[in-house]
Amino acid sequence: MFLWIGWIFVWTGLGAMSAYSAPVTILVTSDTQALLEPCGCAENIEGGLEARAGYFERARNESPDAIRVDLGRFFPPRKQDKKPAYLLPNEDQVNRAVGLLNLEAMRRLSYHAILPGPLDLEYLDEEARQALSADSTHNPQPSFVATNVVDVKTGQPVLPVSLIQSTPNGTLAFVGACSLQEGPAAHGAGRVEKTREMITKTIEPLRQDPAVDAVVLLAHEPPMAVRKWLADYSGPRIDLVIALDAGLAVEKTGETYITNAPAKGRAVGKIVAEVEKGKGIVTVTFERISLDPAVYSHPATREFLTQAYASQVKALGLALPGPPVLMDLREEKESVGYAGAEACAECHQTQYDQWKSTPHAKAFWPLLDQNRHWIPYCVQCHVTGMNQSGGFRAYPASVKMMHVQCETCHGPGQSHIDEFGTGPIRRGEAKAVCIQCHDAKNSPQFEETFDLYFDQIKH
Ligand code: HEC
Ligand code: HEC
Ligand code: HEC
Ligand code: HEC
Repeated sequence: MFLWIGWIFVWTGLGAMSAYSAPVTILVTSDTQALLEPCGCAENIEGGLEARAGYFERARNESPDAIRVDLGRFFPPRKQDKKPAYLLPNEDQVNRAVGLLNLEAMRRLSYHAILPGPLDLEYLDEEARQALSADSTHNPQPSFVATNVVDVKTGQPVLPVSLIQSTPNGTLAFVGACSLQEGPAAHGAGRVEKTREMITKTIEPLRQDPAVDAVVLLAHEPPMAVRKWLADYSGPRIDLVIALDAGLAVEKTGETYITNAPAKGRAVGKIVAEVEKGKGIVTVTFERISLDPAVYSHPATREFLTQAYASQVKALGLALPGPPVLMDLREEKESVGYAGAEACAECHQTQYDQWKSTPHAKAFWPLLDQNRHWIPYCVQCHVTGMNQSGGFRAYPASVKMMHVQCETCHGPGQSHIDEFGTGPIRRGEAKAVCIQCHDAKNSPQFEETFDLYFDQIKH
């Protein structure tokens, strides 16, 4: 009994003596999907690399030793639907270019640890990694970490399996699970496999290292999957898991804290962890810092993005004048369906005149102004019939289908015209059509003020 009390005494005493004077700050981002900027569709949209850089700079004053980590998905998602490849043959090329731009911008923000997700591995081949290190005299290669990704041929890890980051307030070792699947699953640049074994094997020596105070697992998985995985995990202690976004603050499972990284690069997660020698991480708090572009600016990043867009547009052959490269029109099989607004005017002059007076009739120009006319994600809502037969494919070849024209709302009208107005045409199904583009993100006022919006387009 006495012994027991004595032990407690010494133990707490030691604990108090070995606490660091201040907590460790980890700034975490994820899921940028190459959305390098808030689109500008509305005024109050969060996110973008410029606001991120602005916040990081400000955070440097508050916590100069903050560790910056990213949980991946920096490349844009691949198209989900299984449309024939000819509809958008160059999408991969564009996605790759813009994803690498995203990484290049992140490299300038000096991240300490970047975990690629499975989708990123699709693009992050040898060539892409070399492109990133080309300028390594000025900017070191991004500090990738991935514990369970091995080379398809050699079985050797493709990227560093752990990274150690020292701060005056504690030394953290980072490991990264690109996915928590056991594998094997191939993802382009590597194969995810033996996740549990690789993570255990990597953490064991880290735990032996007296310099390492705590182990942090970056997991490209939602917290639900992390909880499930931890329930069966019996390897050496993991102090903290940072998972993908789920609006979670902090929770604790056994001896492991779980928190998460905000989605879509719209915010930074500020994780503050108190570290004690011999005990690891003893408290964790999480705060979501909204990246409001009106609050955080960063001229150097703005300049970088502007120049990068211009040079990408050139590199991809999208500059004007020039051949359309975004989508290959030579592969076009048939061109029925869409006719374009001019063709409707012949019989519906009143409606045409009204439409012409609305912003829909010039919706493509802002993209061109911003050099974003080559990014399929943006283009889809600012044109008519994107990737549909006879719809918009590429600028400048598809100028006839630029902007939000009649057939966006009424459906393809060529056969309606061919049959002198007796052919099928969709009546305006107002709201259901509108919200395909006027969604909460790109048109936040729409839902509340639908009547005002509708009045403007009524004809
Ligand atoms: C889901 C559809 C959608 C996507 C994707 C989208 N936009 Fe938009 N965008 C809209 C809508 C709808 C508006 C009009 C919003 C309003 O006024 O309520 C708009 C407005 C804009 C405006 C303001 C136009 C003006 O005249 O002031 C800009 C600029 C813009 N978008 C650029 C972009 C860029 C750049 C991207 C890609 C990063 C993008 N948009 C992606 C739907 C979209
Ligand atoms: C943003 C969506 C949208 C666009 C773009 C649009 N319309 Fe419409 N249109 C509607 C809606 C919605 C209605 C139904 C209005 C109602 O029910 O009051 C409609 C109704 C009509 C009608 C039937 C009018 C009537 O009196 O019954 C015609 C004809 C028409 N539109 C032609 C056009 C033409 C031609 C264009 C292009 C020059 C065009 N529309 C562009 C949404 C649109
Ligand atoms: C050759 C003349 C002609 C052209 C060109 C034409 N329409 Fe029509 N459209 C008509 C006629 C006639 C009607 C009325 C049919 C009826 O009332 O049954 C009509 C009706 C409509 C309606 C209302 C349908 C309804 O059920 O009330 C819409 C919407 C419409 N057209 C859209 C378009 C669009 C969009 C285009 C261009 C793609 C277009 N029209 C081109 C002749 C034309
Ligand atoms: C294909 C995507 C798309 C659809 C569908 C669509 N819009 Fe739009 N809308 C846009 C874009 C993009 C803009 C911004 C154009 C610009 O400012 O250059 C816009 C702008 C507007 C504006 C002007 C807003 C402003 O700030 O001045 C109104 C009003 C509007 N839309 C109403 C509607 C209504 C009502 C519907 C449905 C009947 C609809 N839109 C359907 C894409 C769409």
